[in-house]
Amino acid sequence: MILSIESSCDDSSIAITKIENNELIFHKKISQEKEHACYGGVVPELASRLHVIDLPNILEETKPYLDQLKAVAVTNQPGLSVTLLEGIAMAKTIAVTKNIPLLAVHHLKGHIYSLFIEKEQILPLLVLLISGGHTQIIRVESLEKMTILATSIDDSVGESFDKIAKMMGLGYPGGPIIEKLARNGDENRFSLPVPLRNSPLIAFSLSGLKNAVRLTIESLGGSEAMSEKDKCDVAASFQKAVKLHLIQKSKKIFLNEHIKDFAIVGGASANIYIREAYEELCMEYGKTLHTAPLEFCSDNAAMIGRYAVEAYKKELFVDPFEIDIVRTKKQQSGMML
Ligand code: KG4
Ligand code: ZN
Repeated sequence: MILSIESSCDDSSIAITKIENNELIFHKKISQEKEHACYGGVVPELASRLHVIDLPNILEETKPYLDQLKAVAVTNQPGLSVTLLEGIAMAKTIAVTKNIPLLAVHHLKGHIYSLFIEKEQILPLLVLLISGGHTQIIRVESLEKMTILATSIDDSVGESFDKIAKMMGLGYPGGPIIEKLARNGDENRFSLPVPLRNSPLIAFSLSGLKNAVRLTIESLGGSEAMSEKDKCDVAASFQKAVKLHLIQKSKKIFLNEHIKDFAIVGGASANIYIREAYEELCMEYGKTLHTAPLEFCSDNAAMIGRYAVEAYKKELFVDPFEIDIVRTKKQQSGMML
């Protein structure tokens, strides 16, 4: 069995996965959403202090399995330094005291492997990753060979939902709140610009759209003057523009990439409206769409454990005295993940 730890942002999570058949034996996640909600976003120092309490509490529950561990895995990039370090400290300690190998897992690769929790891998695969920190299309050829085909030049999808919710005084995280409001809204009431619509650039950008939403909110007298209907209509119009942007750039990628299997992963992939748009697109382009179960779209240790099973088979171990957080450079198209 492999014990995996995730603490890259505001979720403390530990999982135990069986190596021989990918079975998820144990999984628990303590989310800090409520603690950060009043700030409209994650406060790193607060997140770190909460991991210090929550991770050992979850670990306590894994006691029955600790003697059967063959390895320990932990997210070491990308994420908030002060929160990644909490998970790493715990993983290092387990690896050294139990004398078992340590695996360092890239969080985004973990999101990709959320597709394969309790399943076999599907490779090659084309993936749209939409999370709180990233918007990327990635070609996944193997565990080691993942190439970024398109990436965000500013705000990510999840981040833009969070910021729009904050502008309307709706709380955090914004994704589920905006999606829910949008269900009752008129998506054609405000004509918001579809980002990079006339640009040949195969990249994602949401800061211009975010600004257009801010101006719309101002034109309605600000969030306090807005009616419930106004908020629903803004949410729906914004969500429609995000969808059109994602679909337009994905189509460009589909013209060059002929891999049949396509997947959407990451926190924002829980969005049903976006999922439905991709169902249609995949039908049109003859691709098979894969998504993770809703509970594994947002950050969790089960996906880290699933990746770790494959990394364990390839003996991609790291020295517990050498492991550190990796200060990720700005990611560009063409780079390996
Ligand atoms: O993958 P994730 O849990 O964390 C990162 O790795 O960043 O993603 C969290 C993000 C948040 O920004 C949240 O607002 C967004 O995912 N999110 C959604 C939805 N559910 C969560 N965005 C749009 N629609 C949703 N239903
Ligand atoms: Zn994530």
